[in-house]
Amino acid sequence: MNQRRSSLGKDLVGLELLTAEQILTILNTAEPFKEISERRIKKVPVLRGKTIVNLFFEASTRTRVSFEFAEKRLSADTVNISSSGSSVVKGETLVDTARNLEAMRIDMVVMRHGSSGAAKFLAERIPSSVINAGDGNHEHPTQALLDMLTIRDHFAKIEGLKVCLVGDILHSRVARSNIYGLLALGAEVAVCGPKTLLPLGITELGVTVFSRIEEAIQWADVLNILRLQLERMEGGFLPSLREYNQVWGVSRTRLEQAPKDLLILHPGPMNRGVEIDSDVADGPHAMILQQVTNGVAVRMAVLYLLAGGAPDTAEAAKGGVEV
Ligand code: CP
Repeated sequence: MNQRRSSLGKDLVGLELLTAEQILTILNTAEPFKEISERRIKKVPVLRGKTIVNLFFEASTRTRVSFEFAEKRLSADTVNISSSGSSVVKGETLVDTARNLEAMRIDMVVMRHGSSGAAKFLAERIPSSVINAGDGNHEHPTQALLDMLTIRDHFAKIEGLKVCLVGDILHSRVARSNIYGLLALGAEVAVCGPKTLLPLGITELGVTVFSRIEEAIQWADVLNILRLQLERMEGGFLPSLREYNQVWGVSRTRLEQAPKDLLILHPGPMNRGVEIDSDVADGPHAMILQQVTNGVAVRMAVLYLLAGGAPDTAEAAKGGVEV
């Protein structure tokens, strides 16, 4: 599809291998796209004629709907496929599914998959652009990009900020993508959670580890609170959810001990009363719904850039210029 070379390459599989310049290009390209979602008619012809398949093999609300809105607001033709409604349940392989979709002349695949590495595996086997919408516990690049855009909106910078990812780091693709992206942009990054939910060798990624939530709250400018991924735990990770909340939960009482107001992020879906209390989730410093709003603009930017759109023409593109 890409007659013009994309500044990101063919695919967006993760943030690990992106340069700071490429990450900033995505964030900066998202800025002009924010306004499209505020219009009465939320549509521009930027991706007219492009066909995008959203292939979701795992449950999703935010990412799936956000990609679909982004695609539709850029006038792409979209098709949604879930594993339960596809021939995967009859034993068809991922590559065969994708090749059959390609035979119908598609341009991009947005894929969520339960296996780490699935997006790269597919990207290496089909000529269409592949965007990773979350693969196992590997990466969730567009989530981290929208987290970073939300942080930058608030502080007008990322470099030098102290960002702590709290909770279930072990199972979190969001944590991994945030660590790569934030470090690339010059933030200081820490993780905080029970030892059983921290990956071995996590410090080798360049992050600080806090073993008490109280210490993290004293240190950080931003807390990005992660969901306990109970569906990926087979037991033995935690004594009980109640105890987890008592020891690790982010509560208003705990935040009141912070030396400054902390920006509160959560990628969702939230377990209220477990990793985050409702008065924090709904409190004045939570940007959780702003993250969701920014997700549409970030995904528009990724789609636009992968389709070959030039970063410096995003403003013009929103006025009606096609890629
Ligand atoms: N943050 C996130 O990935 O949410 P969904 O699982 O609802 O897409």
